[in-house]
Amino acid sequence: MNKQYGHFDDRAREYVITDPATPWPWINYLGTEDFFSLISNTAGGYCFCRDAKFRRILRYRYNGVPMDDGGRYFYIREADGTVWNPGWKPCKTPLDSYECCHGMGYTRIRGRKDALDAEVLFFVPPGRRCEVHKVTLTNRGAAVREFHLFSFVEWCLWNAATDMENFQRNLSTGEVEIEGSTLYHKTEYRERRDHYAFYGVNAQADGFDTDRETFIGMYNGFDAPQNVLAGRPGNSLAHGWSPIASHCFHLRLEPGESRTLIFVLGYVENPPEHKFAPDGSIDKTRAHELLEAFDSTEKADAAFAELGRYWEGLLSRFQVESGCPELDRMVNIWNQYQCMVTFNMSRSASFFESGIGRGMGFRDSNQDLAGFVHQIPDRARQRILDIAATQFPDGGCYHQYQPLTRRGNDGIGGGFNDDPLWLIFGTVAYIRETGDFGILDEPVPFDNAPGTEVPLLEHLRISFRHVTDNLGPHGLPLIGRADWNDCLNLNCFSDNPDESFQTTENKTGGSQAESLMIAGLFVYTGRAFAELLGRIGQDAAPVLQAVEDTERAVRENGWDGEWFLRAYDYFGRKIGSHENAEGQIFIESQGWCTMARIGAEEGLCDRALDSARRLLDSEHGLVLNQPAYSRYYIEYGEISSYPEGYKENAGIFCHNNPWIIIGEALAGRADDAWEHYCKISPAFIRDQRLHKVEPYVYCQMVAGKDAARPGEGKNSWLTGTAAWNWHTVTEFLLGIHPEYDGLRIKPCLPAQRFPEYRVHRHFRDADYDLTIRNTGRGGSHFIPYSPGYHQLTIEL
Ligand code: GLC
Ligand code: GLC
Repeated sequence: MNKQYGHFDDRAREYVITDPATPWPWINYLGTEDFFSLISNTAGGYCFCRDAKFRRILRYRYNGVPMDDGGRYFYIREADGTVWNPGWKPCKTPLDSYECCHGMGYTRIRGRKDALDAEVLFFVPPGRRCEVHKVTLTNRGAAVREFHLFSFVEWCLWNAATDMENFQRNLSTGEVEIEGSTLYHKTEYRERRDHYAFYGVNAQADGFDTDRETFIGMYNGFDAPQNVLAGRPGNSLAHGWSPIASHCFHLRLEPGESRTLIFVLGYVENPPEHKFAPDGSIDKTRAHELLEAFDSTEKADAAFAELGRYWEGLLSRFQVESGCPELDRMVNIWNQYQCMVTFNMSRSASFFESGIGRGMGFRDSNQDLAGFVHQIPDRARQRILDIAATQFPDGGCYHQYQPLTRRGNDGIGGGFNDDPLWLIFGTVAYIRETGDFGILDEPVPFDNAPGTEVPLLEHLRISFRHVTDNLGPHGLPLIGRADWNDCLNLNCFSDNPDESFQTTENKTGGSQAESLMIAGLFVYTGRAFAELLGRIGQDAAPVLQAVEDTERAVRENGWDGEWFLRAYDYFGRKIGSHENAEGQIFIESQGWCTMARIGAEEGLCDRALDSARRLLDSEHGLVLNQPAYSRYYIEYGEISSYPEGYKENAGIFCHNNPWIIIGEALAGRADDAWEHYCKISPAFIRDQRLHKVEPYVYCQMVAGKDAARPGEGKNSWLTGTAAWNWHTVTEFLLGIHPEYDGLRIKPCLPAQRFPEYRVHRHFRDADYDLTIRNTGRGGSHFIPYSPGYHQLTIEL
């Protein structure tokens, strides 16, 4: 029997962790608009407003030992000196019971020790820039209980990068203010910052600390703060060093008595003219408002109920009853939830992304759209316009942009030749969902330069043209720095460990490096683009011609005999061919070329899918390539820098497994499609210890068959995997395709296992309750869009 650390509670839409010592911190995200938090099952993590690098509120040490130390801690100090935390960490005092429920935008942690119950509910109220910590203490014993409660958070000096390195300055800049029970963090407020943070509570505290060294002690850790051990706050005022916020309460509970405290961890931006109060202290008006908004249990509960309605509103737009609990919980709850988290975070802040490195990816953001457009179409619209504004006039685009400024990231630049096509992909997904063709007329600049605006449609045209303007000797798209696979760097040729694989191009002149992945993507999105042009009465013939030329080039120069090649290298030599010693077959081109149905009539798609199954499949999913590269190939770049079985070198990229699943579905191979889906869908994970990361969300990569521990997951949460699995399972397995004029129903699920299922689909101004009788015969059924409520039974 595999050890379980928790289980799903589908009714509550929660994952319930019952053992705090999970194999890796299992986290959740709080926040819906611009204030976001990461919170682990032991209350570790941090929060920020808008930008995880420049507006970091709580300090967090990635790479700490033990890992995941620091967060929002509550310490209970008993009269006999015992100290414990409801979330077990950091003291790790054994608890009589522990439970952490990660729900939709909230986390509830409960600990019990010697008949004292401590429950903390953490959430970010919709429309507010704060975390609420609702702490409830209940004496379930027969005797009066007296104890101290200490809260604790540690402030980050705003810029999460310099906070970790510029100590000669940082250790002198920290400043705080104290007003009643509210502890303010105002480092750098005296000069250019107009923002501050605070930690308050709706009752008069018996003491506080704002200086870390006073509170914890120079030689202690988070697990043994000296003032907690002593049961006595220091009432310290931080000057430089490390400012913190800690409240102390001396509490006394009669048997059966309960006490609730509402803590608010807030962030405020002041208009420059209202920065200071007359006495030179910070203007606290907005903090007072925020504190007042949650100064009673009733107000906190009302905000929590509103959060529940917010999520109900988002998730209820697509619900399935399939008879398979694993499928239902992914579709109805966790996959949709993860898609919203990737919308909010892109790739910035997780326990694998430090929140200081990467901006928003051009390609990532467009793909993510396919996962959340049905939930928040209006915000998807704005996202498309923001992304398109970072395009260059020649159709190329910045690989990343910064969320605060929405400007392209000069550090990384452009040159990833798949990027432009994703704009077509994202826009098509948006219009199919919403019917909003008007977005195509929106004026959008190039490189954010005012005066350069052209309609969005023009951006799509030049995106398409960027590919045809950059074809190689085989008539296939040139790869540039890389295509979807950031690590296939065919023009890099780096022998210098101090160079970045992502940005170095030591050899470009005369490059013959072409990509079959871009070719497949081009044919697939090109057809969709042609359909869109037709719909708005524009000439689609040149687009279809280019698509046809590329298909021919793939059939003539991209077929290896049993599968599609992956690429041609700088010198024009094959990659992903049986002729290669290593890296003979790759998943990306099998996925995209079968999605595009290239050579389907000649049987190429079936053969490519069979080859993928035979050579790439494993117990935990399809690996990216085989055989893995066992040494560094200077002409291939980063892909061969990873040890075998990890990341892009034969890891299981959960992101591209769906491409094969779609290929299988389009080929009508329901059993194969379903089997591939089950292998990567987290709800089917049996061995939680091996999988290591959260069993309720997808991770980017699971170690492949060549790795030391095949099946071990990494890089959970922020990955295009969420959107791709959503897109795949809802459109290609359950078969609910939004089209311009309605829904096309075309299921591809094994008929024996799924003879009948029900789907509720909100679509524009309509709600459809569909019962689908799945005979396995194939075929499709079109439901023209009309507003209102519709109930239909469809047999296919
Ligand atoms: C990461 C990146 C994504 C890239 C993939 C493959 O997931 O976010 O942009 O396509 O790796 O390299
Ligand atoms: C590394 C990773 C890849 C990621 C890229 C982003 O190359 O292997 O997955 O997309 O970094 O910069």
